[in-house]
Amino acid sequence: MRELEAILLVGGQGTRLRPLTIGTPKPLLPTAGVPFLAHQLARARSFGVRRVVFATSYRAEMFSDAFGDGSAFGLSLEYMTEDTPLGTGGAIRNAAEALTCGPDAPVLVLNGDILSGHDIGDQVARHVAREAALTLHLTEVEDPSRFGCVPTDETDRVTAFLEKTPNPVTNRINAGCYVFTRSVIDTIPQGEVVSVERETFPGLIEAGALVLGYPDASYWLDVGTPAAFVKGSCDLVLGRLPSPALPGPTGDLLALPGAVVSPEAKVSGGSAIGARAVVEAGAKVTGSVLGDDCVIESGATVADSVVGAGARVASGAVLRDAVIGDGAVVGPRNELVEGARVWPGVTLPECAIRFSGDV
Ligand code: GTP
Repeated sequence: MRELEAILLVGGQGTRLRPLTIGTPKPLLPTAGVPFLAHQLARARSFGVRRVVFATSYRAEMFSDAFGDGSAFGLSLEYMTEDTPLGTGGAIRNAAEALTCGPDAPVLVLNGDILSGHDIGDQVARHVAREAALTLHLTEVEDPSRFGCVPTDETDRVTAFLEKTPNPVTNRINAGCYVFTRSVIDTIPQGEVVSVERETFPGLIEAGALVLGYPDASYWLDVGTPAAFVKGSCDLVLGRLPSPALPGPTGDLLALPGAVVSPEAKVSGGSAIGARAVVEAGAKVTGSVLGDDCVIESGATVADSVVGAGARVASGAVLRDAVIGDGAVVGPRNELVEGARVWPGVTLPECAIRFSGDV
């Protein structure tokens, strides 16, 4: 079989992850010590992908700066940029201009914000064996009402692609990894804003094309929210999802070169400590992501949170479920909880206020 080509959707603005995504697109955020995409690219490569077309829009140039021609990753990379975002379907159609495969070849399409342990090779093989137009990776979630749901028949044929509803008919949802037959991508209108979820998938089902589901119960996470992003990084460090892209030894924590963690600090829960970051004696960091060059002073507590590059968390401050933008300073004794977000560069003076919104 010829080498598999993939399209990686990375043009979104990542609004739910602001302020982290103001300067850095979501797929490039440091996750377990490397850009998030490094984990996805390494996994795709392990299943036979050799050429990847990035569908970029928001901060497009940062992707080529980070990954170049891909040779360092054993991949050949191309970049196709939309002047204005074309939505998921328009982006796939635009990126397909850079594919080299013929009309009958399978093409893998990946959302750039998903961690998945499923067997991509088996998904592609199933697609080819059944001669499907499209094969959708499906995962099961406890509460499918927050997602569109995807019912299938006993042969795994997808029977509908349903919008969010309070009473979902199945807890199987679209997991953001698709195999298209190349000629099917070519039917998406070119240069127009198109959503695969709202237009292409329902349209194919209605037209009677064979749209298959690939249900799977292995590790799966959409890292689109701050809480999920932190969980994804910690899960990689803890080894809950094996990744060939981890930059060093892991376990309860991952510390990048130059990080200084005091032996009297407590760091656990799969926390990632950025390069040259400092965690002082008596500080407690659990299940968190600390950016490069940040400082957690003695007696501070950081739990389930993200601290941006160059930020400082002063003595006695408490972060729980919080996001601290790059270069921000959290003064002593502030308590930031329940999704509190501090914008980059903001300084919170010393006080004992409990914040749970945007600062
Ligand atoms: P939110 O703004 O927080 O919802 O995040 P997002 O912008 O990433 O949107 P969403 O999670 O719905 O996007 C799913 C995937 O499609 C992500 O990998 C996005 O980068 C990508 N994506 C969404 N819209 C576009 C687009 O218009 N162009 C391109 N190239 N990619 C897109």
